[in-house]
Amino acid sequence: MNQSGWQLGGSTAAGYERHLVPAIFAPWAERLIGLAPPRPGERVLDLACGTGIVARTAARRMEDRGQIVGVDVNEEMLQVARAVSGELRPRIDWRRGCACELPFPDGSFDLLYCQQGLQFFPNWDGALKEMHRVLAPGGRLALAVWRTVDYNPGFAAFVAALEQHVDAETALIMRSPFAVLSQDDLRRMVEQTGLTDVRMRIGVGAARFDSAGDLIDKEEQGSPLKGPLGGLGADARAALRADLDERLRPWTDDDGVILPMQSHFITARR
Ligand SMILES: C[S@@+](CC[C@H](N)C(=O)[O-])C[C@H]1O[C@@H](n2cnc3c(N)ncnc32)[C@H](O)[C@@H]1O
Repeated sequence: MNQSGWQLGGSTAAGYERHLVPAIFAPWAERLIGLAPPRPGERVLDLACGTGIVARTAARRMEDRGQIVGVDVNEEMLQVARAVSGELRPRIDWRRGCACELPFPDGSFDLLYCQQGLQFFPNWDGALKEMHRVLAPGGRLALAVWRTVDYNPGFAAFVAALEQHVDAETALIMRSPFAVLSQDDLRRMVEQTGLTDVRMRIGVGAARFDSAGDLIDKEEQGSPLKGPLGGLGADARAALRADLDERLRPWTDDDGVILPMQSHFITARR
């Protein structure tokens, strides 16, 4: 499990839930679920659930009927998921597990979501085969994977600023959520598992932050950037903020900065 990407420690998992889920992940969870809405009574898996925004959003649509499981390799994320989902029904079962070897028998789920998880798995083909295996015949799959960083230009600017003021390794952390695969490659990989009705869609959206500095602070508090940015001296930190401020000027307005974002959505059926 330790080869998996985007690993956060305890306080960072809480920061992810507090700062990045509302700004980025919650609106995209609504959109993903809109493409494959859960039906009351279904068995639903949220793979790479993180703090569980997709599972929680799905639960609200299930009229307290059905089963929902959230799986993530990171126990700290799961602890936050447990803490914030207490009253929700159906009750969500939060389980530690790797996408490479899902801890479920064949055909266990009617619907499988995976929002911004695939890109971090050590073996994409293997993970997709596991998704196929745990889906019941007729079961539905809905995945979201950010498009390459060029289609997410505010984050491309952040990557460039990190490269200039921190180092290449830190810049790579901020680049890692963005796909390296084209739409065609992704489609081929999903089709190769034997899944059918594969449909690819491009989602266009935006994330708001109060300022370039606010983006840096929130990513620091809720992502693996915490370690490298925490060790930055005052001068380098000020230079990073000033540079990102400048780079994000085209997306700056009276409310702060708005970062255009694009994601692949992939739906399929077993
Ligand atoms: C960017 S977060 C997305 C979390 C959540 N789906 C959301 O929308 O907020 C990526 C998640 O993938 C998880 N992850 C990475 N590799 C994994 C693996 N091999 N198996 C299961 N989860 C994994 C990470 O621990 C992290 O919680």
